[in-house]
Amino acid sequence: MWKFLGHKDNKNSSPKDVQLDYSSIPTHIAIIMDGNGRWAKERNLPRSLGHKAGVETLNKIIKEASDLGIKYLTLYAFSTENWNRPPEEVSALMKLLAEYLKKQLNELHKNNVIVRTIGDISKLPNICVEVLEEAKEKTKNNTGMILNFALNYGGRDEILYAVKNIFKEYNEGKLSKEDIDNLAEQDFSKYLYTQNTPDPDIIIRPSGEQRLSNFMLWQCAYSEFWYSNIKWPDFTEADLHQAIADYQRRDRRFGGIK
Ligand code: IPE
Ligand code: IPE
Ligand code: MG
Repeated sequence: MWKFLGHKDNKNSSPKDVQLDYSSIPTHIAIIMDGNGRWAKERNLPRSLGHKAGVETLNKIIKEASDLGIKYLTLYAFSTENWNRPPEEVSALMKLLAEYLKKQLNELHKNNVIVRTIGDISKLPNICVEVLEEAKEKTKNNTGMILNFALNYGGRDEILYAVKNIFKEYNEGKLSKEDIDNLAEQDFSKYLYTQNTPDPDIIIRPSGEQRLSNFMLWQCAYSEFWYSNIKWPDFTEADLHQAIADYQRRDRRFGGIK
C-alpha cells in the first residue's frame, strides 16, 4: 500500500470529514487542477511555486483516489491553450511534471496504478515524453487505478483528432461509406483520446471558476459538476471526500424519469 494513509482507519481524515458510501464510489473522477497561480499570488510567491505546491496536492489526491477504489482518475494538467502562457511558466510546468513522474513512478507501479495520457504528448518537451512513455510502458499490465494525465489536451482538438482518424481509416479502406453512415455515438467515442474509458461521473474544479476550459467536451455530456473556491494547492483528501459525498446525493437521470 501507499506509504501513508488509509481512509478506512481514518488516519488521514480531518475532523470535519464526511461519511462516504463505499458501495457507490464513482467509477471515473476527472479533476481540472486550477488555482495554482492565484494561490501563489496571495502569498506573494512566483507562480511556479504555486505549481510546485500543486504537485504536492496531486500526489496526495492520486494516493487517496487509489485507496478509495476509484477505477479512473483523469487529471487536467496542461491544456492546448496553456501554450499561450509565458515560456518560463510553460517550462517550469513541464519540468515539474517530469520530476514528479520520475520520483513517483516506482511507487505508482508498486501500487498497481496504470499511467495513461490523453492529448497530443508528442508536442511536449523530450524530458516529459520520455518519462511518460516509460511510465505507460512500465505500468501497462497493472490492474489498479487508471491514472490518466490530460496533457496538451483540448476537447475540441480531441474531436478533430477523432474526425481525422475516421477519415484516414476511410481513405485506407478500413471503414466504408456505409460504416460511416451507421457510425453510432459509442463507435465515435473509440476514436477519441479516451477510447474505451467510461465518461467521467464527476468533474471537479477547484479555484472558483465555473467553466470547462475545453475539458472533455464530448465525454461530459452527463457528468456531474462539482465546484469549489479552494485553490488546488489547498485541496485535501477531505475535499475529495466532500465532492464524492455530494455526488452520492445527486440524482442522475440521463434524460429519463424515475
Ligand atoms: C492550474 O493553475 C495549472 C495549470 C493550468 C497548468 P493555474 O496556473 O491556471 O492557476 P490560476 O488559475 O492562474 O490561479
Ligand atoms: C484549465 O485551467 C486547464 C488546466 C487546469 C490544466 P486554465 O487556468 O487554463 O483555464 P482558464 O484560462 O481559467 O479558463
Ligand atoms: Mg487557471
